[in-house]
Amino acid sequence: MGNFRAGPPIASSIRRAGDETMSNMLAEALLKDGAVERATHGFHAYPARMHPDAAAAVIAACPGPVHDPFCGGGTVLVEAILAGRQATGTDLSPIAVLVAAARTADRSLVSAMRSDARKITEAARLRVDVEVPELAERWFQPHVAQELGRIRDGIEISRPEVQHLLRALLSSIIVKCSFRKSDTHNRREPHHRAPGTTAILFHKKARELGRWLESMEDGARPQIQLGDARYDTPAKDCGLVLTSPPYPGVYDYLPMQQLRAAWLDLDLGPASGAEVGSRRSFRAKGRKDALKRWREDTHAWIGTQARCLAPGGKMVIVVGDGLVGDRMVDALGPTVEAFQAAGLSVVARASADRPDHAREAVRIEHMVMGTA
Ligand SMILES: C[S@@+](CC[C@H](N)C(=O)[O-])C[C@H]1O[C@@H](n2cnc3c(N)ncnc32)[C@H](O)[C@@H]1O
Repeated sequence: MGNFRAGPPIASSIRRAGDETMSNMLAEALLKDGAVERATHGFHAYPARMHPDAAAAVIAACPGPVHDPFCGGGTVLVEAILAGRQATGTDLSPIAVLVAAARTADRSLVSAMRSDARKITEAARLRVDVEVPELAERWFQPHVAQELGRIRDGIEISRPEVQHLLRALLSSIIVKCSFRKSDTHNRREPHHRAPGTTAILFHKKARELGRWLESMEDGARPQIQLGDARYDTPAKDCGLVLTSPPYPGVYDYLPMQQLRAAWLDLDLGPASGAEVGSRRSFRAKGRKDALKRWREDTHAWIGTQARCLAPGGKMVIVVGDGLVGDRMVDALGPTVEAFQAAGLSVVARASADRPDHAREAVRIEHMVMGTA
């Protein structure tokens, strides 16, 4: 899975508890590893994704509509479509919502997206000076920033019904075209990109996304919206809430998207304070206060999302222990307590160790299933 930078789970370390069938299913899901090429999973980087095969296994075991309140790039929602299920998703991050919506878009939009992307690409290669965001100077070669600016301006005058897909395409190339090492590493690593190749990359992404969307069957598409999982849920009478919340103190999901937000003119500020378990909260507040806040947030979101389950519906959470400084943060205990406080009984769970080579430590990841 990978809410932290660790190696694959160690099969011999698996521990199971509770219902035998379900804990075996969770254990197998937890051990899923390796690249998955199907559908749109390959479109746009998104940190700490759930493994698509793990999502597929849990969805197959739990009938009914599916909801993911921390949907990120939309892995669970894509798998719900492939399983022919109704689905809903929310996330605090507008970038997550953009990516999840693009990965689950209706294929009837593909031909308009392709033809508008082609026109934007042609126009972006002409040398016309455009305005670029202030941070472009530090993070992009000048001609790359100009190409990105012309792509952004081209999107604004393209067909409204495909603008969200075109914005997702632009978003998908920003980090790669910048000096930023990767989504999860903020280090500046200058490199050279030849003039014209930024526009070509945009067009390549459009063709890829188009091909992948066309590989998916027609059928209902998920409803995806911005939301704070602690208070919001658009879902009701769900058979399954399947989600992977932020692991405590591991990532800063919103600030991580600073470059994309600048190009897409998105304000991440108001949402940042609502981020659950952020790494910066552990740095700013100190371990004890940040842990208290993370526990309260965990109770809040599990309580809210439990209310959207139909009787007998299941909640399945993938969560890993955090690491703050050199000390572990237990994620399992507070998750189980929050299930109980929300009136859910724990059906089954599985846990596995993953080697964290960078820190010479072992990180434990859990899948926990509760029922309403
Ligand atoms: C582990 S990622 C989810 C990844 C997702 N399962 C996937 O496969 O792409 C956790 C997500 O929680 C979101 N998040 C953090 N705090 C939130 C909150 N209060 N409400 C909703 N989403 C939140 C982050 O923006 C991030 O996308």
